[in-house]
Amino acid sequence: MPGIVRMLDPYTYRCPAGHPDPCPVCTGAPHLEEILQYEGPQNVAAVLIETITGTNGVIPPPPGYLQAVREVCDRHGILLILDEVMAGFGRTGKWFACENWDVVPDIITMAKGINSGYVPLGAMTISEQIADWVRDKYFAGGLTYSGHPLACAAAVASIEAFREERIVENAAEMGAVLGDGLAALADKHESIGEVRGLGLFYGVELVKDRETREPLVPFNASGEAFAPMAKISKAALANGLYLMTHWNVIIVAPPLTITRDELDEGLEKLDEALAAS
Ligand SMILES: Cc1ncc(COP(=O)(O)O)c(C=O)c1O
Repeated sequence: MPGIVRMLDPYTYRCPAGHPDPCPVCTGAPHLEEILQYEGPQNVAAVLIETITGTNGVIPPPPGYLQAVREVCDRHGILLILDEVMAGFGRTGKWFACENWDVVPDIITMAKGINSGYVPLGAMTISEQIADWVRDKYFAGGLTYSGHPLACAAAVASIEAFREERIVENAAEMGAVLGDGLAALADKHESIGEVRGLGLFYGVELVKDRETREPLVPFNASGEAFAPMAKISKAALANGLYLMTHWNVIIVAPPLTITRDELDEGLEKLDEALAAS
């Protein structure tokens, strides 16, 4: 996409900068500052990141990371947009993941959890400052079905159900159980290199060797090369557990309505699938 410059993820387990202390990538500010120096901060409208990187392996920001990015953006007059399409609406045990770090973005993008997918809907929230700006200007954004009343009604109803059924609270409570359960699996299975995440949003990264951290399957593997991951998924599915995997990471993101019994059952089946690998 033209006009877009990418920055590296604060992927502490496999830091692209070799993770010196302090790390220019994983602390947030130095890496971003360097990019802004090349591009000219006056040419940058916004920094857009997932609050917790999702599909690429569930990578939560290290402590202080989001705050540092926010500070750099503020200093240069750049907007901070947090993509919470995956992390938002209770997934991390808070309504929005950025609340875990007390960071307030200028824009949040959201979808999936907004109405649990009953009807397709995506949305963004904007700060008062942007709202005031846009009030008397033409915003050239839209889709044929933008703001469709049916999809919006589904969102309103879902949000009511979230409140009535204490779904965010359940995600926080069950998230603590999930975190402990996955940590116990990591103690047991040598193939687990790292468990990371929060709430009901975890990544379990599988490796061939804990010391070298060689991934269980190579990057972008398919066919025979992907067989070790496929074997785990197949064993889990045969036992009634569907696993979402990406590269060498199992993405653990159960429904936010999950009960303690269901979670225990899922963890037991994951244990068995890993043992079969
Ligand atoms: C984190 C994240 N952002 C954005 C998107 C795309 O969202 P949409 O299809 O609503 O544009 C996805 C889709 O999976 C996603 O996971």
